[in-house]
Amino acid sequence: MKKRMLSGIKPSGQLHIGNYIGALNNFVKYQEDYEMIVFIANLHCITIYQDPKELQKNLTDAIALYLAVGLDPNKSTIFLQSDVMEHAQLGFILQCNSYLGELNRMTQYKDKVAKGEQNLTVGLYTYPDLMAADILIYGANYVPVGVDQKQHVELARDIAIRMNNKYEKELFVIPAPLIEKVGSKIYSLQDPTSKMSKSDKGEKGLIYLLDDPKKARKKIMGAVTDSINKVQYDPQNQPGISNLLVIAASLSDRSIDEVLEDVQEMQYGQFKGYVADIVVKKLETIQQRYHEIIESGIITKVLTEGAQKASKMANQRLKRVQHAIGLEIEKTND
Ligand code: TYM
Repeated sequence: MKKRMLSGIKPSGQLHIGNYIGALNNFVKYQEDYEMIVFIANLHCITIYQDPKELQKNLTDAIALYLAVGLDPNKSTIFLQSDVMEHAQLGFILQCNSYLGELNRMTQYKDKVAKGEQNLTVGLYTYPDLMAADILIYGANYVPVGVDQKQHVELARDIAIRMNNKYEKELFVIPAPLIEKVGSKIYSLQDPTSKMSKSDKGEKGLIYLLDDPKKARKKIMGAVTDSINKVQYDPQNQPGISNLLVIAASLSDRSIDEVLEDVQEMQYGQFKGYVADIVVKKLETIQQRYHEIIESGIITKVLTEGAQKASKMANQRLKRVQHAIGLEIEKTND
């Protein structure tokens, strides 16, 4: 039997090439050999206020992009998180089986507190429990993610082990994060020591999958580099150049060494042009498929069928958990 794999993306903004390289592209690759479950984490989006219209647009775009990059509804179960109510219900049960100390250590929340951000929601604080529910409710063996999500998958793992010990030996499958050696953290083009992120303030540091290719080229040409003037892979001393090498390698399905064979003699300007060509080619291919998908109107059908399949799986596990923890009473007929 195929092992089960699950992952999701939270389109609280537009998807960018970090999401593609660190996550989406791997989902497509793995759907061949695993039973793949991929969803849009829309409940996670609202842990921070979203303009409703903008959120709707981002969700539609994200689904269209899932399909555009090659996720195949015949191979993968694709759905919207809020269409499967069981996620939120298990999420609450998991909140009751995790500790304040654990959630206090989650970097996403900790960082925001450290930056002095005000009015953080309770949902943001407990969000790792909901993510654990997303994973555990399907009995996923593996969770392909970028490196920033490792801590969350580890929390899911800890809760699963805890509840298996407390209630029932094999209540939950113990999940493991699956993190690629190359591309699991793409950095900002403007600050190559920090992650490329949807919440980046300026737009110059990140390339959206739906960016106008001309704009994307400009962003690559304007990427921050260094004064060493040698194209080599040295993330410590040349984070900008190394980041561009990873982007070029990942988007052209080659190793960094193979890319280096082409570029190691180049000046930085020429090298950036080389990377920009690869990025533009990839964006054009994805965007052409994206427009076809939007026009085809298949999104509703994909989501309806995906939610039906996912609900069945999720409901079975939720029932079992509720029974194991004593929530359900024996029902008699009289
Ligand atoms: P999110 O939406 O922040 O990111 C989606 C995926 O993209 C990866 N990623 C990156 N990879 C490489 N370089 C980057 N700069 C970069 N930025 C993001 C992330 O690691 C992730 O794999 N909580 C999750 C969504 C989620 C989820 C889940 C994931 C909800 N439930 C269950 C897996 C399983 C999130 O906010 O990801």
